Amino acid sequence: MADKDTSLETHNYHFDVPVKNKVFSLKGSNSLGWGMKNRLSNIFNPETNRTVMLAVDHGYFLGPTAGLERIDITIVPLLQYADTLMCTRGILRSTIAPTFTKGVVLRASGGPSILKELSNEEIAVDIEDAIRLNVAALAVQVFIGGEYETKSINNMTRLVDMGNRYGIPVLGVTAVGKQMVRDVKYMRLATRICAELGASYVKTYYMPDGFETVTASCPVPIVIAGGKKLPELDALKMAHNAIEQGACGVDMGRNIFQSEAPIAMIQAVRKIVHENFSPEDAYDVYQELKGK
Ligand code: 5RP
Repeated sequence: MADKDTSLETHNYHFDVPVKNKVFSLKGSNSLGWGMKNRLSNIFNPETNRTVMLAVDHGYFLGPTAGLERIDITIVPLLQYADTLMCTRGILRSTIAPTFTKGVVLRASGGPSILKELSNEEIAVDIEDAIRLNVAALAVQVFIGGEYETKSINNMTRLVDMGNRYGIPVLGVTAVGKQMVRDVKYMRLATRICAELGASYVKTYYMPDGFETVTASCPVPIVIAGGKKLPELDALKMAHNAIEQGACGVDMGRNIFQSEAPIAMIQAVRKIVHENFSPEDAYDVYQELKGK
């Protein structure tokens, strides 16, 4: 036996085949370390470099938002159709089974409720707890132009430093305060600042005019929030336009869980994000699944 193991003829070292170095093709991410890339691959499907994130973290400042009163009943059945779940550690531990192995993007900032100044957030999670929860990324609100702009940026840069230490990406969430203008110029400013200061990817709102300038000037992937509930076809059109204009996916909440048929809606959104369906074709999928 020992003879057989050490004999040259029993081994094939493939001397003539060079080792391949595959480029990590997610936008702006090729120079990251293995752990970061592995976690990002648990958010962005490596086949499409896109993601359908299901956002259910609203309760961290809004309390029991419509559709999220009982996450065990309304959200758990949707998980099989999401690439990633964005939630707080409270919901993760209390309501999501640890057998859920897709990426978890953990809400890592918080503090003020809807009754107070929202930009006055602090970091709300220890990096050790994020590691314990095996999260794929940390999400932090950044209030560019907000009253506590510098504090919120500082929350992000501190999380980026902690995340870099352990290979955990940070999602910079461009927050639009109650009185802040939402236009493409603002979104270019906010997303670029997040990326420049170290966010691995950035979440923003879709703007109908010139959104491609936001994605073009941000060196890392952008995902869009869904925003307020729209009629299903309009939400699908928004997702489609965002993807066409360079977004790498959606981080959608209310337009999925407040839909008349959330399971049908999330599957229709997937068709747009991963299969380049037109909004009308995706809407047909929605109608068909809704009718079942
Ligand atoms: C809250 C968030 C939400 O996750 C985000 O707004 C996505 O949800 P929706 O699609 O309902 O807007 O970051 O601050």
